[in-house]
Amino acid sequence: MRKLYIQTYGCQMNVHDSARIADLLRETAGLELIETAEDADVLLLNTCAIREKAQEKVYSQLGRWRPWKLARPDLIIGVGGCVASQDGAAIRERAPFVDIVFGPQTLHRLPQMLRDLASEKRPQVDVSFPKIEKFDCLPTPRASSATAFVTVMEGCSRFCTYCVVPYTRGRELSRPVADVLTEVSALAAQGVREINLLGQNVNAYRGRTADAAAERVDLADLIRAVAAIAGIERIRFTTSHPMAFSERLIDAFADVPQLVDFLHLPVQSGSDRILAAMRRGHTVADYCTKIERLRQVRPHLTLSSDFIVGFPGETADDFAATLALVERLEFDHSYSFIYSRRPNTPAAEYPDDVTLNEKKARLEQLQHRLNHHAQRISRHMIGTTQRILVEGHARKDMNQLAGRTENNRVVNFTGTPDLIGNFVEVTITEALPNSLRAQLTSPVITASISE
Ligand code: SAH
Ligand code: SF4
Ligand code: F3S
Repeated sequence: MRKLYIQTYGCQMNVHDSARIADLLRETAGLELIETAEDADVLLLNTCAIREKAQEKVYSQLGRWRPWKLARPDLIIGVGGCVASQDGAAIRERAPFVDIVFGPQTLHRLPQMLRDLASEKRPQVDVSFPKIEKFDCLPTPRASSATAFVTVMEGCSRFCTYCVVPYTRGRELSRPVADVLTEVSALAAQGVREINLLGQNVNAYRGRTADAAAERVDLADLIRAVAAIAGIERIRFTTSHPMAFSERLIDAFADVPQLVDFLHLPVQSGSDRILAAMRRGHTVADYCTKIERLRQVRPHLTLSSDFIVGFPGETADDFAATLALVERLEFDHSYSFIYSRRPNTPAAEYPDDVTLNEKKARLEQLQHRLNHHAQRISRHMIGTTQRILVEGHARKDMNQLAGRTENNRVVNFTGTPDLIGNFVEVTITEALPNSLRAQLTSPVITASISE
């Protein structure tokens, strides 16, 4: 079998897309996925354009592969993902040795592109946005552990002023309800117990049903339908936008026990002025009200977020408001970034008078506080009983097992391999910076829901 290597950058959707590409090329092109780039016949880069740094990584990686291509002209190099979508054929101007350029919406055409490359002996570029045919062309996913991603919608129509995603992934497009449920059932039949519903703006999901005249199904109802599938004991979703975070979704948190006690809800800034300049469409108070409502139905909910520091025009007061919000809501492990100018986005034209040094200092201060809160949440977990899904062996110690709590913390504990793929109860004994240690208290929990 010829060998395939995929290097992935970016979000969970990209990681998931890479897995789908591997499934597809195994079934249709006889390519076997391997872990070492040096031994591959086909090298693919699945790229991210969200910040300049992510984009530059692509070209430096291609630079490292260039001599390999010179030495072995039959080596095939392909670039996909959001940089491919954004730069299209221009990728070949900077890296003329690239054979294939495909976008997030054309990855299902890779088998044909590989065939055309072989027969026509010329580079293939297709970064178009052909509706949703992609999902009909992908094979049933193969589960690799007890937890799995399922893409339910793709793209984004919100156009925050700093963001490339609506341009690289296209507008919001939801998969039909039946397709999503068929995929979840197929995964459950392979032993999957936890489903992570994926979308760039996942709570804007509006899925068609068989009845074309019927109202579309929203994320809250989709979650209920997924929860009804035998074997699915945990449900997550990523990433939501505060504007589309509806009362109906809060109701789902109230009455669907499989929904985890955890929510990632990006807020970006604690200043109304900056939120308006970002065109987020909500105020800080709107965000806090939603969280308070949610905490009424889920008192133990942990909340995480994304923050952008140093958005054009961000003053010391604006930044102080972000810090105040962090103190008020107590976020768990969150992502924070220095604003990066993206070509062709509205914010790229905004005057930006904050120095890079100042931005770095703000980022450090914010991360220090976020880290403080995350560590505090971890410490408070010591002595508690947690239900975790055992995903496999611990990374650093084969005699240990690793699983995740509802709030996404990795827990390492001593146990036998037959527990992998099951839920167990553990008592947390120690909090480390990036994981927890625990002791097994109750082996396999077989009841479908423990609450
Ligand atoms: N669709 C999701 C996530 C999009 S990208 C959402 O709207 O929440 C993930 C995160 O990257 C964003 O939440 C934002 O914090 C960050 N991000 C996006 N564009 C950025 C830019 N130009 N500079 C810095 N950070 C950015
Ligand atoms: Fe980007 Fe905003 Fe869409 Fe998120 S909601 S993907 S930040 S445009
Ligand atoms: Fe990056 Fe595209 Fe995801 S820009 S964050 S890979 S949607």
